[in-house]
Formats: sequence, structure tokens, C-alpha cells
Amino acid sequence: MSSHVRHNRAFWDADADSYQAAHGEQLARSPLAWGAYRVPESELQVLGDVDGLRVLELGCGAAQWSVALAERGARVVGLDVSHAQLLHARRSAATLPLVHASGEQLPFADSSFDVVFCDHGALSFCDPDVSVSECARLLRPGGLLAFCCTHPMLYLTWDDARDQQTRKLHIDYSQLGQMALDEGTIDWVLPPGAWIKVLRANGFEVEDLVELCAGEDASTTYLDFAPPKWARRWPAEWIWKARRR
Ligand SMILES: C[S@@+](CC[C@H](N)C(=O)[O-])C[C@H]1O[C@@H](n2cnc3c(N)ncnc32)[C@H](O)[C@@H]1O
Repeated sequence: MSSHVRHNRAFWDADADSYQAAHGEQLARSPLAWGAYRVPESELQVLGDVDGLRVLELGCGAAQWSVALAERGARVVGLDVSHAQLLHARRSAATLPLVHASGEQLPFADSSFDVVFCDHGALSFCDPDVSVSECARLLRPGGLLAFCCTHPMLYLTWDDARDQQTRKLHIDYSQLGQMALDEGTIDWVLPPGAWIKVLRANGFEVEDLVELCAGEDASTTYLDFAPPKWARRWPAEWIWKARRR
């Protein structure tokens, strides 16, 4: 296991209880929705109809998405590197298969899924060269990879000195990539060209890139994330949708 995965696993094991206390209820209330501002899947249609499909949620946390997709007929597996997060998942997903593993080393056979997805899950915390290659291996030809993660714009405009989100650029574009965040995790924040490169190198065609802004009345429990006023004007998150050739 790589050192960043070990680091992130320790973070999530320590943080799982307070994370679920802060966000679990909101996530369970709107389980089929993307990002901190919970933009409904019914509006975006990123995954579409999952009835009968084999779906892997990569970094499922308490598995709110997985439970809701299983109720819509998907054959879902929830996977997470954090044992503590999976204990929360087990409480809400009594019968769902849950797997304790890292997004960089997936214990499944080639072509065993139709859809691999996450909402701020493993693809934010893994080396994309490794995790995207693993996703490609697991997906059947024509299978869908969809993942929501933080938009680089958010990091570029974060003012560290004033500890707040701004409208100005504060770091160089070249500082994007692997980033050790003050919150305690090690994340990968790639610019669009780098995502396209790694997806294409692993046999994916990019089908869509959905940039998420907060709706007029949207609110969030992620209070240390982009404030609503900022997130209404600029995309704080994006969803990549790619198809295995
Ligand atoms: C921000 S939570 C998101 C989970 C869920 N979608 C939610 O909204 O609560 C990120 C999750 O990714 C998991 N994670 C982090 N690194 C991972 C890795 N290398 N492999 C699998 N899961 C990972 C964490 O344990 C955590 O449960």
C-alpha cells in the first residue's frame, strides 16, 4: 500500500464518526445527488438507469449512494479503504456487499462491472495513474466511469494567508497535482488536460464534463467547503464521465 493511501486511511478512520455526524443525515436524505450542494442525479443523469447493472462505488463512505442505487435495481458493491467508514455503511446497508480495499488495488476480476463511480470518493485520494488503470481493468468494454471531485478553481483561488475563498488566483497552475491539504488528507487535484490524458491513456473516451455550481437556494453541511455565494458563481466541483472503449 502506498504511503499516501496509508495516510488517507488513517485520516478517514479517525474522522469517520465526526464526518458521519456532520453529513450522514444530509447524505441519507438526498442519497442520489452529487457534491457538497447535492445536485440531484435526476437532473444531471450521469449514471442514468442502473437497473440490473453491476455497479462499484469506489470510496463509498457510509454507502448512502450504494443503498439508493441498490433500491433502483443495481447490483452494487461498496468499497472503502476506511474500516471505520465501512462500520457506518454496515449499519445502513445490512445486505449490501462491502469491501475493505484501496482504489489503487481493487480485488475484482477484469471486466466485472458495468459502472464504476464515486462522489468525492477514492479518485480524489488515489494516484490517478494507478486508480484509473484499475477502473479500466474492472470495467467491461462500453462500461462507464463517473466521478465527482473538487474543481481546481477552488484551490487556485484559496487564500491561505486569510484562510478564505476569494475571486483571485493565489497559487500557480503548476502546483496542482498531488496536494497535502490542511484538512489532513493527501488529494489529487488535476487540471482538465491531465485528466483527459490519464483517461485516454487507459482506454477511456471522455463523454461529458459536468461543472457543478450551487443552485440559488442550495445549502450544504460542508461548511469548510466553498461558501454558497462563491459556489453559485463558479464551479466548486466537477463530474467526469468517461466510457471504456
Ligand atoms: C468525502 S468521503 C465521500 C464518501 C461518500 N461519497 C460521501 O459523500 O460521504 C471520501 C471517502 O473516500 C474514502 N477513501 C479515501 N481514500 C481511499 C482509497 N484509497 N480507496 C478507497 N476509498 C478511499 C474515504 O475512506 C471516505 O470514506
